[in-house]
This record gives sequence, structure tokens and C-alpha cells, in this order.
Amino acid sequence: MTQTPTLLFVALSVLPLASSLFFPELLLSTSLLNPNPTFTPQPSLPSLTLSSSYATFTPAQTTFASAWRILDNTFTDRTFNGQDWFATRQKYLKTVNDDNLSQTLTLLTSSLNDKYTTYLPPSKYNSLISSATGSVTGIGVTLSTPEPEIVKILQVQPGSPAENVGLKKSMILKRVDGYEVKDADVCGGYLRGEKGTKVGVTVSEDGRERDFIIVRDTFKPVTVTAESSNGIRVLKIKSFAGTTKDEVLKGLNNMESGKILIDLRGNPGGLLPGGIDVAGLFLKEGDVIVSQVDKTNIKRTEKTLFDGEYSDPRKYPLEIIGDGNTASAAEVFTAAIVENGRGRLTTVGGKHTFGKGVVQTVRPLEGGGGIKVTVAKYLTPEGNDINKEGILGEGFKEECGEESVLCLETVKAWKMKVEE
Ligand SMILES: *[C@@H]1O[C@H](CO)[C@@H](O)[C@H](O)[C@H]1NC(C)=O
Repeated sequence: MTQTPTLLFVALSVLPLASSLFFPELLLSTSLLNPNPTFTPQPSLPSLTLSSSYATFTPAQTTFASAWRILDNTFTDRTFNGQDWFATRQKYLKTVNDDNLSQTLTLLTSSLNDKYTTYLPPSKYNSLISSATGSVTGIGVTLSTPEPEIVKILQVQPGSPAENVGLKKSMILKRVDGYEVKDADVCGGYLRGEKGTKVGVTVSEDGRERDFIIVRDTFKPVTVTAESSNGIRVLKIKSFAGTTKDEVLKGLNNMESGKILIDLRGNPGGLLPGGIDVAGLFLKEGDVIVSQVDKTNIKRTEKTLFDGEYSDPRKYPLEIIGDGNTASAAEVFTAAIVENGRGRLTTVGGKHTFGKGVVQTVRPLEGGGGIKVTVAKYLTPEGNDINKEGILGEGFKEECGEESVLCLETVKAWKMKVEE
């Protein structure tokens, strides 16, 4: 692992094994695109009952206090999961030290009982920021731990060092620089490193082991693959990043047919603005894409400002395929298309998409690392809160394999739609 799907990856490590193949990824807000590296603590703390003033905090206490303050300022549940939030601060502030800072921050975030609000250690924080901003350094694989002690390659980034040496999806990683690897998260840590450095990787495929020496490099993560199939332009969007809209445009411009099929199976989300921008390509001026509702119940509605390049439904009929792992920004996109009557959703393997209706932002901590925190919920154009419900497909397929066009409910249904 390393890079991009760090978005994906960051989350994998905190999931139970059964669901580790995907993650309902963050809908990060735009603040991530301008991370503030020179974070300075605000002096506006509620009055301390500890005798120590901010200036006399140890570095661990300073980091802890900055994490507490971020949560205090932004977390959506203002009861903080029913606890005496200030007492929680004082309790941990007294005992936190360099050795157990990360455990303490994890205890602090988990006390809020929101699985999307978590502490990000420096390595995860840094790779999250770099992947969200469109350039990553590493070898270019996403990993998962599909069963105990097995580290499997979930995805190989096109154009990455991993792809260039021949690493492939579904290979099992056995060793990195001679260390046995049994956990995707730990393995990701071994694979990360500076551009130009080398890493030795042993993989097993069909029971045979092979060794690779890979030079880490900087590359742009690819989030979209485009191909023409049966006269339909098929786009697979793996996640939404700042660069996704341009990739979609490039993919569409290179193809002939008017019919467009967007495959969002397994797309865990990514950056909220990425989903909004891509939806705008297919919608008319003034269409509502999404509304965010923050902790003070203030609602902010995003509308398209002009007709998108592919907004004409007669010229460009649009279908979406999703599944139970289509989440977050991918659901924002889907709801915007479906509820504006612009296209139809077919779900595969179940009747709904995942159902992640909350938005996170990532903030840097003084002293390194960051906090990912749920700051808002969102509503679809029709005002629906899809959290834990997902979006209901109009069409449904039990199973259809990799080939996207085979997932359309029937090709006949598609044709009828086009001829309407
Ligand atoms: C951190 O260490 C201190 C001192 O040993 C201890 O009192 C405290 O409980 C520890 N905190 C955690 C979260 O382990």
C-alpha cells in the first residue's frame, strides 16, 4: 500500500475483518485541500481547572489538547456521546505522555462512539493529504486483510511503480524487506518511503513465491478508467479525488457513443467536492446536488452554476451501477443524478447502496498526525437523509462480474430508455 487509496486504506485498518474489503470513505470537506501545516493553537480554551497553563504543557499534552479542541469545535453531536466532555479532557490531560499519546488520542476519539471520527497517526495523515491533493509517493498498491494474517493486493494503481514491475491485483504479500507481513496496515507502513528509495517485496501467486525490487516514486493516482463497450461509454470511478472530474472529462471526450454508463461498484467515496464536481458535468444549471447540515443545523445547499458538458439527457443517456460498497461521495453523486431525473441506478448484489450520510473533515494536530471528525450530515436533492439506508436502485442484478455493461438490468431496458 502507501499512497492514494490510503483514503481507502486508512480506514481498512479500523474495520472488522468481515468488512475489510471496502470502506465507506470519508466525504472530506474542502478544508482538506488546504491543510494548514502551521497549525497554531487558539488561546480560546474554556478556563482550565488544571493548574498548568497551555505554555507549560508537555508536547504530548499540547497535541492532546489540540485534538480535544478540534473535536470540541466541530463534532456534530454536541452532547459528545452524552459525556462530560470537559471532564474527559482533564482526565486524559493528566496522564497522557509521549509513550501513550496515540492510545490516548484513540481513546478520546472512540469515546464519541462515531466510527468515522478517528485519530490519524502522522504516516496516515500525510498519505491521506497527499492522495487527496492528487500526487502520492510510494509503490502504488491498495491492500486489505481479507482473512487473518493474509495481506492481499486489492488494487494496483495504473502507471505506478508496482504496476511497472508486474504486481497484480489479488496477489498475496508475504514479506517486505524480509519482514513477514500479516496485517495490511503494518505492511503499508513498510511500503511507504521517500521517492527514489528501494523496497523488496515477496508475493505469492498460485502458491508460487516471487521477489520484486521496487523503486518508490511520485505519481498521480488514477481514479477513473474509461472504455467503450457495445457502443456504450463505460467509466469506472474507483473513488472521488480533486482530479476525478478532469479524468472523467478526458475519458468521455475520447469516446464516440452518446450512451454513458458509470460503474461505482466498490467506490467508497473520497472527497466530497470531487463527487459534487463530477455530478455537475451531467446536470443542468440550478439543479441541487446536495445539502450539508452542520452541527448548528445550518444548511448549505450546493447547486450547479451552469449546464454541465454532458447534461443533455437525449444526447447522453446515463446509467449508474452501484452496490453495497458504493458509499459517501459516490452516494452524493448517485443521489444527485437519480433524484434530478438525470439517470437511473441499478444495484448489484443488494437493493441499496451503502448508506453513509455524514461528512468528515481532517485537521492537522500540533506535533503531527491529524484528527478525522464528523462535522455534518448531508441531505440528497429531495431532502432525504440516506445514512444507514443507502439509495434504492431502480434496477437490480444479483451478480454480473467485472464487465460493467452486463450489470445493466437488461440491455433491452437500456434501449427502451434511449428510444423514449
Ligand atoms: C499513559 O501513561 C500514564 C503514566 O504511566 C498512565 O497513568 C495512563 O493511564 C496512560 N494512558 C493510557 C491511555 O494508556
